[in-house]
Amino acid sequence: MNKPHLTIVVPTFKEAANVPILLEQVHSALKGYPFDVLVIDDNSPDGTADIVRRFSEQFHANVIVRTDKRGLASAVVDGFNAAKGKLIGVMDADLQHPPEVMSRLVATVNQTAADIVIASRYVPGGSVGNWSFIRKLISRGAVFLAHLLLPSTRGIKDPMSGCFLFRREVISGVGLSPVGYKILLEVICLGRSTKTVEVPYVFENRRAGTTKLSMITQTDYLRHLVSLMRRTGELRRMLKFIGVGLSGSVVNLSLIALLREAVGFNYLLAGAIAFEISVIWNFMLNDRFTFSDRKRDGSKFISRLWRFNTTSLGGFIIYVCLLAALTELIGLHYILSAAVGIIAAFGWNFFINSTWTWK
Ligand code: GDD
Ligand code: MN
Repeated sequence: MNKPHLTIVVPTFKEAANVPILLEQVHSALKGYPFDVLVIDDNSPDGTADIVRRFSEQFHANVIVRTDKRGLASAVVDGFNAAKGKLIGVMDADLQHPPEVMSRLVATVNQTAADIVIASRYVPGGSVGNWSFIRKLISRGAVFLAHLLLPSTRGIKDPMSGCFLFRREVISGVGLSPVGYKILLEVICLGRSTKTVEVPYVFENRRAGTTKLSMITQTDYLRHLVSLMRRTGELRRMLKFIGVGLSGSVVNLSLIALLREAVGFNYLLAGAIAFEISVIWNFMLNDRFTFSDRKRDGSKFISRLWRFNTTSLGGFIIYVCLLAALTELIGLHYILSAAVGIIAAFGWNFFINSTWTWK
């Protein structure tokens, strides 16, 4: 069998105690497979780079020391650019990703048509180990947000994994510029991949030293999501959806006034008719304009219209319930309650339509 060369990119900052164990374990896990390890170190004061150099021959390892930049994600991107393998892997130095997993990733990419293979904590057989409830919740919430806002992550259970492997063509010519440290999100959203496979693993405890990632990285994560939404066109889609919604409100208000004043309908009847017509108006615009690229499943116009209608009705019920509940139960000013209701209904409408009506 022809075995494409693998370069394993390992970002490090102050991992002197872990690196020798990592290199040795990777070496024995990949025995017989052509690979090299490329450590990207941000000039760690504990001599991480020297240790890599010492083991360079024995364990096929090289180190690039950066003095001008710092940060996990940019280190990994620099590693991608310097990697010589046809396959590029990424893993942490602290042994939270067991080296044995890397050999399973390689086997998978060579045995399937996958071009990205992810070591996943969230497929059967995988786990996050002994995390606290709060940490689990934050992690799940982060995955949920990614699925909501970045459609290309939707089939993927662990799009935040720090351990993965891909064929080099996936990112060739693609400009990656992660904001925080979720480099895999960049590869999934911007890379040219046709098939992604997840392989289960258990996230181990850090072998030595401490994590370099703080709570600040959580706000980085949100900025990263927005940046990816912008670069993949999802932000533009959301703005179109808002624009269409605003135009629908004008239609709604004009019609209710017209039906009430000129035709003489009861205001509730006028309101109901105006609501339905504005829903159809919104649907037509969104179908042609906001989600024009999303009809690939060959869904029928009429069933999309039906789903949009149902979703809008749900949004309307959310709006009315919040308006009443916040005003009556919490004593919020009704204008504030209405504003909260509008935002919640908007969120509902956008996400249900984007995952169901035009999936
Ligand atoms: N070059 C470089 N520069 N490397 C860094 C830097 C930096 O500024 N900060 C951290 N690293 C290296 C660490 O030395 C380690 O090898 C790896 O990046 C992961 O850093 P940790 O500090 O151990 O991160 P973590 O364990 O909290 O997070 C890991 O798990 C997350 C999933 O829960 C990472 O793999 C994340 O990418 C992953 O999302
Ligand atoms: Mn770690």
